Amino acid sequence: MRIGVLTGGGDCPGLNAVIRAVVRKGISTYGHEFVGFRDGWRGPLEGITRELGIAQVRGILPRGGTILGSSRTNPFKIDGGVEKIKSNLADLGIDALVAIGGEDTLGVAAKLTDLGVNVVGVPKTIDNDLGATDYTFGFDTAVNIAMEAIDRLHTTAESHHRTLVVEVMGRHAGWIALHAGLAGGANVILLPERQFDVEQVAGYVEKRFQTQYAPIVVVAEGAQPLDGQMVLHNQELDAFGHVRLGGIGQWLAEQLESKTGKEARTVVLGHIQRGGTPTAFDRVLATRFGLQAIDAVHEGDFGKMVALQGTDIVRVPLADATRELKTVPVERYTEAEVFFGS
Ligand code: F6P
Repeated sequence: MRIGVLTGGGDCPGLNAVIRAVVRKGISTYGHEFVGFRDGWRGPLEGITRELGIAQVRGILPRGGTILGSSRTNPFKIDGGVEKIKSNLADLGIDALVAIGGEDTLGVAAKLTDLGVNVVGVPKTIDNDLGATDYTFGFDTAVNIAMEAIDRLHTTAESHHRTLVVEVMGRHAGWIALHAGLAGGANVILLPERQFDVEQVAGYVEKRFQTQYAPIVVVAEGAQPLDGQMVLHNQELDAFGHVRLGGIGQWLAEQLESKTGKEARTVVLGHIQRGGTPTAFDRVLATRFGLQAIDAVHEGDFGKMVALQGTDIVRVPLADATRELKTVPVERYTEAEVFFGS
């Protein structure tokens, strides 16, 4: 078989580990041939390819990012996009695609499956908010990066008797904030899943100062205060059509400073959480996903996404994976609340 591989959406540590596993097993065990598509769905849409063999995947396991490049191109939003993809795949002699991506990329994969394209999906996102899989690779790395930042911020916050607000990624789901906050011993954790009361947060901050230590507040970029406490995020699109979030950390620090009379600073971790080498957990998960994905392709089991359920790597219908976002359940948040303000 001649198999195309692409990576779409925001990059994340572990993408290269998937590509390596797919290509290594695909060539050495099954004797398949590979074509790398550049920049997500833009590759098949515009017919932009790169060589993808054993030599190209050598040494990429520990590298962050993706050797194939990525984009948020959606062929269903482009006039004639789907027809173009189908004719390019036919011209290039592609029998099947391995699409590695998040909600948007896999949403496109699910729709293309319905139109007769042979696709197997691999879930990725640092946000860990894809349904049907217990974890996505990239999440563990992002959590570790944020945890290390929180560890460092504790000591400087204490030295200066300041509140440190750490803004982490998480537009719709607060998994990174919750896990990094718990692992780093944060004193308040704020998620997009539940609006927060800024007065209550200020109360936690004051309580923490009474212990002689300084408070660390972890806030997900998509978190929102109660209606009426703040203007909503700027939801305007940038020049590339992406919604820009951000600013909640800065706003919160200003509020806490004025409400508690203690100095506050903000650290926005941003894309640092997406860069660099994957953790061992993410390398193993990404590798196992890649091995399962190439098995699915080899068996002709298309329209599926590989997923982690418990400790097993399984296959689920692509449509199930993208149906609903996996957000933090209320009981997971409640169990963390015991640490707030203490
Ligand atoms: O979906 C992953 C993610 O990292 C989100 O947490 C974040 O809001 C978004 O991507 C940022 O995207 P961009 O790279 O386009 O700024």
